[in-house]
Amino acid sequence: MEMTMLLAAAKTAMMRAYAPYSGFFVGAALLCGDGTVITGCNIENATYGATNCAERTALFQAVSQGRRDFRAMAIVGGQQGEIRDFCPPCGICRQVMAEFCPGDFRVILTNGAGEIRQMTLDELLPWQFSAASME
Ligand code: THU
Repeated sequence: MEMTMLLAAAKTAMMRAYAPYSGFFVGAALLCGDGTVITGCNIENATYGATNCAERTALFQAVSQGRRDFRAMAIVGGQQGEIRDFCPPCGICRQVMAEFCPGDFRVILTNGAGEIRQMTLDELLPWQFSAASME
């Protein structure tokens, strides 16, 4: 099942997080239109501000491979990789999703109890600023 497979890929990616400052590990698994899954983890930096979230790592990796057709992303996170609560994407990552993903792009989250929540990008970031806003 697609959701389970994406969450498993996000969990594997989470264990590659470079997060020595926060200790908060995040993994993301991006589903492309052709079925390819591209993963990402958060990569922190001693300057803090140069940190890259897991979601953007996955999206930038995919775009840099020439991909532009995205369907869904699973995201998991927790202290030292122990998943307790849902890990919703930050505002910057929502805005980057809005650049490349359709409004019905699905964001899939899970918590320590194994509950799954799914939202669309339109639900996570309503009334987006995008290229269309500048026409
Ligand atoms: N983080 C993500 O990777 N994605 C999010 O959506 C929220 C936050 C990372 C950034 C930082 O390395 C750590 O989690 C704590 O904020």
